[in-house]
Amino acid sequence: MMREDIKQVLFSESQLAARVRELAADINRDYAGRVPLIISILKGSFVFAADLVRCIDIECSIDFIACSSYAKSTETSGAVKIIKDLDTDISGREVIIVEDILDSGVTLNYIINLMGAKNPASIKLCVLLDKPARRRVPVAADYRGFEISDDFVVGYGLDFDEKYRNLPYIGVLRPHVYERPERRRALDGP
Ligand code: IMP
Ligand code: MG
Repeated sequence: MMREDIKQVLFSESQLAARVRELAADINRDYAGRVPLIISILKGSFVFAADLVRCIDIECSIDFIACSSYAKSTETSGAVKIIKDLDTDISGREVIIVEDILDSGVTLNYIINLMGAKNPASIKLCVLLDKPARRRVPVAADYRGFEISDDFVVGYGLDFDEKYRNLPYIGVLRPHVYERPERRRALDGP
């Protein structure tokens, strides 16, 4: 059972739903009369983005980008590999990047710079979770669901070793799960 690997539920389904509605209300207000392009970063933000856009009641378009960090040795350089690029031409568009969690900031810093070079009218960042204690690159969210401490969390799209994304809440993983030697690599790896 997945539930047995969760030490603590940080945010329940109803807490998540309430906060997502608030974030969407902020976006509805800030972008009234405009047509933003919402870019969901795969895979982690797929659940959050799906819930968020269904609470957004202004016209918008939606696109996806998938990327992965290079191996740890090169991660400090900020190198990120794009696995699936956007379908949309973003020049002149008002872009809202949607991400599950802002951690070191390396991935988002790279993506924001990449998007910024394509002449969008504006770029804002919407993250569900923020772990400020982990920041290595200065990145700030314009819309932020919750600030959390430095625990490894899963669920609501967030994975460990590609598992737990389907949990409907966000929970803290029991350390024994990732301390199993054969699974350590998944935390350290790209
Ligand atoms: P960073 O900000 O470049 O370090 O990377 C952010 C990415 O790391 C997120 O998109 C997640 O995929 C992953 N990540 C960071 N912290 C967690 C966590 O607590 N649980 C699950 N994934 C995490
Ligand atoms: Mg991940």
